Amino acid sequence: MSFKITYAGLDKQVEVQDDLDSILDISTRNQIPHLHECGGHGRCTTCRIRVLDGIQNLSAKTPTEREASFIRKWDPSIRLACQTYPKGPVVLQRLIWSMAEVTALQKELAPEGRAEERPIAVLFCDLRNFTPMSSQNMNFDLAYMLNRFYTAMGEPILMNNGIIYQYVGDEIIGVFGTTGGTREKNCTDAIRAALGMQYALEHLNKVELKDLDLELKSGIGINFGKAYVGHLGHPTHRQFSVIGDPVNVASRIQGMTKTTKTKILVSLNVMNSIRENILDTGQEFELELAGKEGLAQLTEIKGFKEMDSQLELQSSLHLMLNDQDAFAHIFYEKVFEKSPETRLLFKRNMQDQGRLLTHMLSGIVYTLARPDHLISGIKALGKNHVQYGVTAAHYPIVREALLETIDTVLGTNKTPNTMNAWQTSLDFILEEMQQWNKVKT
Ligand code: HEM
Ligand code: FES
Repeated sequence: MSFKITYAGLDKQVEVQDDLDSILDISTRNQIPHLHECGGHGRCTTCRIRVLDGIQNLSAKTPTEREASFIRKWDPSIRLACQTYPKGPVVLQRLIWSMAEVTALQKELAPEGRAEERPIAVLFCDLRNFTPMSSQNMNFDLAYMLNRFYTAMGEPILMNNGIIYQYVGDEIIGVFGTTGGTREKNCTDAIRAALGMQYALEHLNKVELKDLDLELKSGIGINFGKAYVGHLGHPTHRQFSVIGDPVNVASRIQGMTKTTKTKILVSLNVMNSIRENILDTGQEFELELAGKEGLAQLTEIKGFKEMDSQLELQSSLHLMLNDQDAFAHIFYEKVFEKSPETRLLFKRNMQDQGRLLTHMLSGIVYTLARPDHLISGIKALGKNHVQYGVTAAHYPIVREALLETIDTVLGTNKTPNTMNAWQTSLDFILEEMQQWNKVKT
């Protein structure tokens, strides 16, 4: 028995010998990048594919897949690669291509044509002095700047399990917790995103916009409360919508960053949701917000009191993997230098392997904000590694090689905190990989 699986869009065709492997297994075996955040447990839906031909050659849906597709109202051509076993030729298309797309999947779980009340954190970020800039710069520069601003500032929202909700003029709006999560987690994610945005803006000014002779500045306001979430609008054009008082108040708080000359301001609701003593706060304000009765208590946020590993990893990731091939090359050279016999374990194309490794590393950083998926994903990776002939003795070698590579690649961009965060996180990842036999299903 042998048949072909064709990956449309990638122009790749692979030969399969039996019906024992899921489509995700087939992708992994053939070095085809295929997102699988939860490690093949049918929970994250990031491995989803569209079947273009050969749907009759696929196994029936498992109960987990049936539930996932029922909730999302998928048509029958959409399947979960980790739950689907082909027994004949199939032509398919992967549907999620990057980690940045994953948080937007939460929108699928918002009701259609109506709205539900959900407790969420809302973040408004405004690009300062954009109007004077608009009159001084040619259109091309403006479009370039806005795009760079939105990209750089959007990434920390996505890395913290937030949804980029809207761009309004020179404002970007993020929402956190539309599909659940504790109040504490959603507010902490929003604050981490705000701090990540400040870091991203600093980098943007220092590196990418240095020749434009201008310095972008921002003001961020965060609020927490119950808002209405749903797909609303004309039946032919419904949009994901988040409406209600918490959103309006977040916008007003952002406005207050101008008056108070602060960078990040949060409401009392946010402060009451966060664990005590974890934030480095600045000034406190009691201010009137337009359209609200009484005074609002607002707190300036400067950072976390102690190192936040997640923020360190998120802020260093793009610098570290700016040239993914170079990172992987340095890393594998170090591994083979430290332990020449490991070279024999790598049987396939090393450039593709390098890309799989760097995708996985960046995937792990994005998934830190979804810890339930993270653990099962890392354990599944560990299980695969047993099949590759990896033993416990290899792990410390790879740990050392990875830390040395990160140190080399980040160069002067690293701080002791960055290296500390990577060290702690790698210890955790490598430990979990070796616990693969304790996977919860
Ligand atoms: C941070 C820890 C690690 C990460 C993120 C990682 C990531 C990956 C990824 C994404 C793949 C592609 C296949 C798959 O997804 O299953 C892979 C394959 C592989 N990894 Fe790792 N890995 C790690 C640790 C290790 C260690 C400790 C070793 C020991 C030498 C190792 C050796 C291999 C080998 C031999 C393969 C298969 C290569 C081939 O088939 O040619 N990895 N790894
Ligand atoms: S649902 Fe398939 S990998 Fe998570």
